[in-house]
Amino acid sequence: MAQRILVTGGAGFIGSAVVRHLIASGREVLTFDKLTYAGNLASLAPVADNPRHSFVRGDICDAAAVRAALDGFRPDLVMHLAAESHVDRSIDGPGTFVETNIVGTYTMLQEALRYWRGLSGAQAEAFRFHHISTDEVFGTLGAEGLFREDTPYQPNSPYSASKAASDHLVRAWFHTYGLPVVMSNCSNNYGPYHFPEKLIPLVILNALEGAPLPVYGTGENVRDWLFVEDHAEALLLIATKGRPGESYNVGGDSERRNIDVVRAICTILDDIRPDAAIGPRENLIRFVTDRPGHDARYAIDFSKLHTELGWSPRETFESGLRRTVEWYLANAGWWEPLRARYARERLGLAS
Ligand code: NAD
Ligand code: DAU
Repeated sequence: MAQRILVTGGAGFIGSAVVRHLIASGREVLTFDKLTYAGNLASLAPVADNPRHSFVRGDICDAAAVRAALDGFRPDLVMHLAAESHVDRSIDGPGTFVETNIVGTYTMLQEALRYWRGLSGAQAEAFRFHHISTDEVFGTLGAEGLFREDTPYQPNSPYSASKAASDHLVRAWFHTYGLPVVMSNCSNNYGPYHFPEKLIPLVILNALEGAPLPVYGTGENVRDWLFVEDHAEALLLIATKGRPGESYNVGGDSERRNIDVVRAICTILDDIRPDAAIGPRENLIRFVTDRPGHDARYAIDFSKLHTELGWSPRETFESGLRRTVEWYLANAGWWEPLRARYARERLGLAS
């Protein structure tokens, strides 16, 4: 019988990549998603007609809705991705992040615990609650070093603080109640179906139309970029083969300064979609006021995941970025409605 997996946040960027991957690998999937501004059923279009996929619109803070989904679908595993994910929005409005990321995760844990206690035999033994988190819980790095699973937590933004709190709850539900959890903390994802408020899709779409490319501060901040489909593969491995109570770091082995990411996008677009009226896209770069509390550098040591579960990323940053740009050029039907809905004002200035 096909493995049954309930995915929260499955209409989001990473969640939809996970759902597409789970369906392609033969699983039965229930996507549970509130469809906030970041949720988009169009990202699930490739699996919409698949009889192994179903969708429920629901809020992870609503215990009754979560309970009904668990009892109705009877999953073998839960993959919990639903969250508020944008750092700049957490600076302007931290309340939703506390509500969704902390209270929502608490609600998921309580309902998963109740559901798991009602299972027996092999199903109880195999059940996992996989909590998907971020490297931002570790704070910021200097020029040297990598985040490991045992790096102390030091979150700096309301977003990362709310994710850190949720990680602590997950750990506590394992140690106190024995709920079989696994956790993962990953670096910056990029790829198809990425909401255009985040750096890479924002820059691709602005550069395409000749609009300014906002680079925060001096553009020296470093992120470790992970292609979203590589991440989806890692998550399935962790959910099914990870050891209960353990956390696994996932990274792309692709550290880049923001300014170099933006320049790389300009070069690709100048190459495949030259536009005489726009000229060289690097001229569109604008250095703008920095993000308050902007973490300097993130970089991931994923050797535990590699050694224990045999995972490494398939894409290099260069191949993944080109695939991403090509995807946005070929899929205007996906992003045009989002660009029309999202005002593109500067977020997160704490003013
Ligand atoms: P996203 O913002 O693209 O999607 C979030 C999804 O969660 C949306 O579909 C939204 O509708 C849903 N959602 C939000 N609040 C909800 C609620 N109360 N109830 C039910 N559904 C709700 O996020 P993403 O970038 O795909 O991130 C997914 C997860 O991965 C998050 O937990 C995030 O913290 C984590 N993460 C993301 C990245 C990244 O680079 N994007 C990196 C590390 C970790
Ligand atoms: O590290 C993992 C995290 O990566 C995830 O947990 C978050 O959910 C995800 O949103 C992402 O957070 P970042 O803040 O790193 O992503 P963002 O795309 O917002 O910004 C990437 C970098 O680019 C960051 O240093 C800020 C900078 N930036 C961002 C925007 C939107 C700019 O310079 N200009 C911009 O317009």
